[in-house]
Amino acid sequence: MVKKIIISLLFTGLLFFGILIVAGLGFLWYSTEAKPTQPIAYSHNIHIEKVGLECDHCHQYAEQSPQAGVPAVEVCAECHEDVAADRPEIKKLMAYWNKKEPIPWNKVHNLGWHVYFTHKRHIKANIDCSYCHGEVKAMSTVRKVRSLEMGWCVTCHRKNNAPTDCLTCHK
Ligand code: HEC
Ligand code: HEC
Ligand code: HEC
Ligand code: HEC
Ligand code: HEC
Repeated sequence: MVKKIIISLLFTGLLFFGILIVAGLGFLWYSTEAKPTQPIAYSHNIHIEKVGLECDHCHQYAEQSPQAGVPAVEVCAECHEDVAADRPEIKKLMAYWNKKEPIPWNKVHNLGWHVYFTHKRHIKANIDCSYCHGEVKAMSTVRKVRSLEMGWCVTCHRKNNAPTDCLTCHK
């Protein structure tokens, strides 16, 4: 009887331990790979839903060049010299501006050097930002929602008669 209880206790203990590890690893993956921490708590949700800005206010290069780019501090300073200037996160922001230093944003999406991707061609083909980046307007912190694996790119190219030879994406 006692032996049975001890065994079942051990078993549930082991089970919980296992669940903890899986949850911990899941959290690590979620917080490190898909969603890096940023130097300033900038929120897309506030600026798109509440302030009413469009993507191209800050990522205007997406339509014209390979990279969408992140905005210069100047774009932020245009509003935040006045707006919410007393709040801690805005003080941090304006400190970069006053020192004329770029904000060291961490990359959320990062293909290796061996892959060539271009925004311009995809935007011209009318593929919406949200197809590849998810509902950024609802995110307080941008998170990667697509794997960006080769199979994902190639499957869509095949469906749309876009080029699939290796040199398209590996130059
Ligand atoms: C007020 C300026 C602003 C607007 C408007 C804006 N963004 Fe951003 N975006 C940023 C900044 C700053 C970063 C870098 C910090 C971060 O990752 O949150 C960024 C990062 C991103 C990233 C991640 C880049 C990476 O590191 O891989 C994506 C994707 C993105 N924005 C998409 C969008 C989309 C889609 C819209 C429109 C729905 C939009 N953004 C509107 C300022 C803006
Ligand atoms: C076909 C898929 C696709 C579409 C559509 C797309 N992106 Fe991207 N985006 C990517 C990929 C892939 C990367 C990573 C590129 C790299 O690491 O070289 C990226 C990176 C970014 C970055 C990080 C900075 C950079 O330029 O590398 C920003 C910001 C961004 N995208 C914003 C946007 C916005 C805004 C739109 C809509 C106007 C958009 N993207 C449409 C796939 C897409
Ligand atoms: C068109 C004007 C405008 C631009 C451009 C703009 N913001 Fe904002 N920002 C606002 C407004 C309005 C709020 C909301 C203030 C409130 O909560 O009422 C805000 C809020 C914020 C907050 C939250 C402040 C807090 O702690 O409550 C941060 C952080 C921030 N912005 C950073 C940035 C960064 C970084 C950029 C540049 C990439 C930027 N903003 C560009 C208008 C702007
Ligand atoms: C939603 C579908 C879709 C996805 C996902 C997608 N692409 Fe594309 N891509 C297209 C289409 C459509 C074109 C052709 C646009 C045109 O004809 O100008 C294209 C064009 C390109 C081109 C230019 C081709 C040329 O002729 O030089 C490159 C490079 C490219 N894609 C790379 C990528 C990479 C890398 C990824 C994955 C990270 C990717 N694409 C994901 C649909 C997609
Ligand atoms: C439409 C774009 C596209 C085309 C076409 C393409 N690749 Fe890739 N390839 C990618 C992307 C994106 C990655 C990066 C995957 C990652 O980082 O997980 C990649 C990664 C790779 C890798 C590195 C291994 C890996 O999984 O990271 C090799 C090797 C490779 N590709 C070979 C090829 C060969 C050979 C061809 C032609 C038969 C080809 N690719 C065609 C987009 C493409």
